[in-house]
Order: sequence, then C-alpha cells, then structure tokens
Amino acid sequence: MSLLEVKDINQYYGGSHILRNVSLTAELGQVTVVLGRNGVGKTTLLKSLMGLVPIKSGSITLDGESIAGTTPYERARRGVGFVPQGREIFGRLTVHENLQMGLATKKGGTPIPAELYELFPVLKQMLGRRGGDLSGGQQQQLAIARALAAGPKLLILDEPTEGIQPNIIKDIGKVIRMLADRGNMAIVLVEQYYDFAEALADRYLVMERGEVIASGPGSEMAEKGVRQLVAI
Ligand SMILES: Nc1ncnc2c1ncn2[C@@H]1O[C@H](COP(=O)(O)OP(=O)(O)OP(=O)(O)O)[C@@H](O)[C@H]1O
Ligand SMILES: [Mg+2]
Repeated sequence: MSLLEVKDINQYYGGSHILRNVSLTAELGQVTVVLGRNGVGKTTLLKSLMGLVPIKSGSITLDGESIAGTTPYERARRGVGFVPQGREIFGRLTVHENLQMGLATKKGGTPIPAELYELFPVLKQMLGRRGGDLSGGQQQQLAIARALAAGPKLLILDEPTEGIQPNIIKDIGKVIRMLADRGNMAIVLVEQYYDFAEALADRYLVMERGEVIASGPGSEMAEKGVRQLVAI
C-alpha cells in the first residue's frame, strides 16, 4: 500500500472540466514529481489533495483511509503538509509566528521543532522579522519550514523554485532529498524547472489539459523525452 493513493479524480471549476481521471501514488521515502506546462491543472491537483477544492468523483486515501471528504484542517491533522504556489506566508506576522501557524493542528504550547533551524539556518536569525520583509527565497524556506512544523507524513510542494535565486534553489533541493531519504515521508513536488525536477524525481508524472499523459521512474525521464514533453 502506498502512503497516498489517488484514483481517477475529476474536478471542475464551474463548467470547466479541470482534472480528468487523474491517478497517482506517493510512497514513503520517495519524491513524486508532477510536471506540466502552465494551466494544465497541477495546482488544482494539489489543492484537491489538500481539500482546498472539492472533487466530483474519484478517491484519495492516506495510509489506507479515505480523506476525500475531509477538510484541509483534518488533512493537516492527519499528516499532510502543504507548501502553496507563491508561498502564501503571512507577511505581517513574524517568522516565529508563521512557524507557529504550522502547529495549528497541535496542542497549544507545542514547541517549534529545533530541527527546522538546522534545515534552514537563515530562519533562526530572522525569527523576529516580519515575513513580508524576507526575500523571496527566504519566504520559500519559511513556507517549507511551516509545512514541516507539524511533522507531516506527506509533504506537497507547488513550484518551490518559482522566482527563487539559484543558491537557495540548491539548498531547497538538498532539503527535499534529505527529507525523502529518511524514509518516513512521501513528497509530491509540482515543478516546471525541469533540471531540478529530474534531479529529485524517484517517480514522475506529466500532465496535459488535466490528464496524466506520461509517468514512470525518475531515472527514465531523459530517455522518455520528458524535457521535450514539457518544454514551452
Ligand atoms: N479558481 C478558479 N476558477 C476557475 N478556473 C480556475 C481557477 N483556478 C484555476 N483555474 C483554471 O484551471 C486550469 C488549471 O489551473 P491550475 O492553476 O491548476 O494550473 P497549473 O498547472 O498549476 O498552472 P501554473 O503552471 O501556471 O501554476 C486553468 O485553465 C485555470 O485557468
Ligand atoms: Mg500552478
């Protein structure tokens, strides 16, 4: 059994059929990368996993239990961490307060795991600073740390490299690999930066117009011509 099993989900925005029978699995210890051009439904897929948009049909199970009808809060409580596209950190709250928001599903007074500052040392120096005053790359690291605060089993990231400088992209890639290699977390990464995606992918899926049109082991991405499939 995979940690996450998504089977034939369909989603609509009004009359527009956005996700068409999308299926995927995510395994503990692995990075599953979802690629696809702009507007194909990648973010909608992640929002469906998180419960931020309703699905019309299909199933989503986490650890063998259906979560399809549950709220985002309940999914967070059950171990889904979400790093949204564009980061969506709280600009007027401090870094420390942003991290505390990641603990909303935990008992009051639960401390922020010290490990987050080992993963992202810059955050420790900036605890009292407002989120909105951080650079884009620092905000991305904050968004990832916030998602990690509650110790998720499934971490979902939506284009974490978007608009980020190369040295921070490298650091984020290292953290993602390290988290997966520990073996107790499954990672679903939506990414349009092909080289970053290929370097991290244990499995890949390519989406086009709401459908999965290709998938396989990450090691086969080059020979299957995935770069060309998603080239703009
Ligand atoms: N709230 C919404 N209401 C109506 N249509 C929407 C909404 N959000 C997205 N869409 C449409 O759904 C389709 C899929 O959008 P989505 O954001 O999932 O794509 P994406 O693959 O994440 O794109 P990008 O790479 O630009 O982030 C697009 O046609 C988009 O215009
Ligand atoms: Mg998107």
